[in-house]
Amino acid sequence: MTKFPSDFMLGASTAAHQVEGNNANSDFWALEHLDNTTFKEKSLDAVDHYNRYEEDIVLMKNAGLNAYRFSVEWARIEPKQGDFDENAIDHYRRKIAFCRANGVEPVITMHHFTSPVWVIQQGGWGNPQTADFFATYCEKIAKELGGDLKYICTINEANMGLQLIKLMKDMQGKEGDVQVGINADQMRARMVAYGKEAMEKHGINPQNTFLSPASGIVGNAIVVQAHVKARDAMKAVCPHLKVGITLSLHDFQAQPSGENEAEVEWIEEFTQYLPYIYQDDFIGVQNYSRKIIGPQGRIKPPADAPLTQMGYENYPAAIGNVSRKVAELFKGDIIITENGMATDDDAERIEFITKALEGVRACIADGVPIKGYIHWSLLDNFEWMLGYSRTFGLIAVDRTTQVRHPKGSLAYLGSYRADK
Ligand code: GCO
Repeated sequence: MTKFPSDFMLGASTAAHQVEGNNANSDFWALEHLDNTTFKEKSLDAVDHYNRYEEDIVLMKNAGLNAYRFSVEWARIEPKQGDFDENAIDHYRRKIAFCRANGVEPVITMHHFTSPVWVIQQGGWGNPQTADFFATYCEKIAKELGGDLKYICTINEANMGLQLIKLMKDMQGKEGDVQVGINADQMRARMVAYGKEAMEKHGINPQNTFLSPASGIVGNAIVVQAHVKARDAMKAVCPHLKVGITLSLHDFQAQPSGENEAEVEWIEEFTQYLPYIYQDDFIGVQNYSRKIIGPQGRIKPPADAPLTQMGYENYPAAIGNVSRKVAELFKGDIIITENGMATDDDAERIEFITKALEGVRACIADGVPIKGYIHWSLLDNFEWMLGYSRTFGLIAVDRTTQVRHPKGSLAYLGSYRADK
């Protein structure tokens, strides 16, 4: 096994709403509790990471990992507009300090799908002012916590809204067509009742939340503005910070005569963002699978192709392919901020990691500037509308007791560190 040098970030990733528990001022919490919800279950206590982060970070450290990507939760930090909760900020200050004390580099995400209810009440990701609201929150966090940080991701999977439009346009579109846990049938069936109830109970339109197809239409322009404004505001306060966005990227593979279609897919998913990100310090690459493209568009994987619990193809070579394509046009650093697989067979995950890291190493050998590989996910967690049924974690959690059970893949990933 060729190992990674000690300055390479090898770690794992989570998102606040998926692991912390009781994110009660967020839009998703409100939507999960509707009678007509499109969520298969509620997040509730999640895996209680808000209270157990020390234990989780020690498990990472003991396994040899040296980087942890997690998000700070806007709905906790600014539960009412302009009203910052100093206890919540202190919580994240302690978490960052605990990472540092354990030799783990904290890589922070400012927005990972969830927003405060008040943001959505004002039009959310359909309201251009949201870009300014977001920049104000980011500037506050940079002032408070930036001195202890090196890396900040502004927005997670800024291109997800556009991917959801595609999914909803295609009446056959379903789970497995996007790299996130979506309950597409329920979204179609309940659109009216869900919207009505959310409006009556909370004054929010679910179409204005981040993980919504409508957020892709107007929202794409707002999301990129939010990124640019937040980046500039944070760098003005803390010039040392390295700031980037993260994108959900597929490895599009063209079949004969599918080259143009594959190129169009790549422009929609990646190239169109370059004007807003070319000044960024890094890009967070998030990839889980490939898509095969013929002259008429997307083609289902071969009948005998292995699938993950998410319904898309288990194809670990995709991460190397995507990283190479990104590096053709994006000239900053690359950090792989998510890559992994949902499976209940940890031997499969170990094999996935082995192959994915072979691809990463080959990229680095060819000069692709990959500075880190941060696996999704540290813990089994709340896979959005699909609930707790999909297991991406390096650590299993018994949610009745919240006891942690590290899987073999955790130590396996850590064993790739040269100084381990
Ligand atoms: C996503 C996310 C994660 C998901 C992961 C697995 O981007 O979709 O960042 O929140 O849980 O991708 O589907």
